[in-house]
Amino acid sequence: MSSTQQSTAQTGNAKGAGIGLFFASYLKNPLKVASIVPSSKALSRLVASHVDPKEPGWTVELGGGTGPVTTALLERGVAPSRLMVLERDPGMAAFLREKFPTITMVEDDALNLPEIFARHGITDINAVVCGLPLISMPKDVGDKIVELGRDAMGPNGRFIQYTYSLFSPLPYERFGLVPVSVKRTLFNVPPAAAWAYGRAPR
Ligand SMILES: C[S@@+](CC[C@H](N)C(=O)[O-])C[C@H]1O[C@@H](n2cnc3c(N)ncnc32)[C@H](O)[C@@H]1O
Repeated sequence: MSSTQQSTAQTGNAKGAGIGLFFASYLKNPLKVASIVPSSKALSRLVASHVDPKEPGWTVELGGGTGPVTTALLERGVAPSRLMVLERDPGMAAFLREKFPTITMVEDDALNLPEIFARHGITDINAVVCGLPLISMPKDVGDKIVELGRDAMGPNGRFIQYTYSLFSPLPYERFGLVPVSVKRTLFNVPPAAAWAYGRAPR
């Protein structure tokens, strides 16, 4: 086998392992994983397109899963030294740590964001990319996580949330946010949209 064939086969194996791991995690914890397959490349790129890698500060991804959005963020040009990914599932966290050795990979719950940022000395956050299934979480938990993400981001920060719904996944007025951009794709199972919110003017 040539080295190109070998590397293609390895990429295929890693992809297969990722899908298998994702599905197994879904079976263990359907409400927390909330999808039977990872986000498609098209959706992941759409999500990443809301992040401006030239802006200073960190990009924080909540709920990395098996990493399709992480891959898209790195391909977009987000520096690994300014990318933190959070994942509470130990199996997926270990998978991400091995797949992305140069990013800050944290196995923890998004409810602990302030302690996590303090532990890693992260103070300037430019984008919070939320892949958490807010809709299937208890409302007080989802609300708390959005508030923690919003409060951590800088004045021009973006809170990005993707959804299978046709409507805004966040009651943004309640959080003092406004939508700044919405992008949709049919190339995901099911079709999805990525919403970017900024702080509402006072
Ligand atoms: C819908 S999956 C999205 C995975 C990946 N970002 C993608 O787009 O394919 C949601 C992920 O969030 C993780 N998760 C759920 N609740 C969490 C929490 N409170 N803190 C951190 N991660 C969480 C799940 O384990 C799962 O990997």
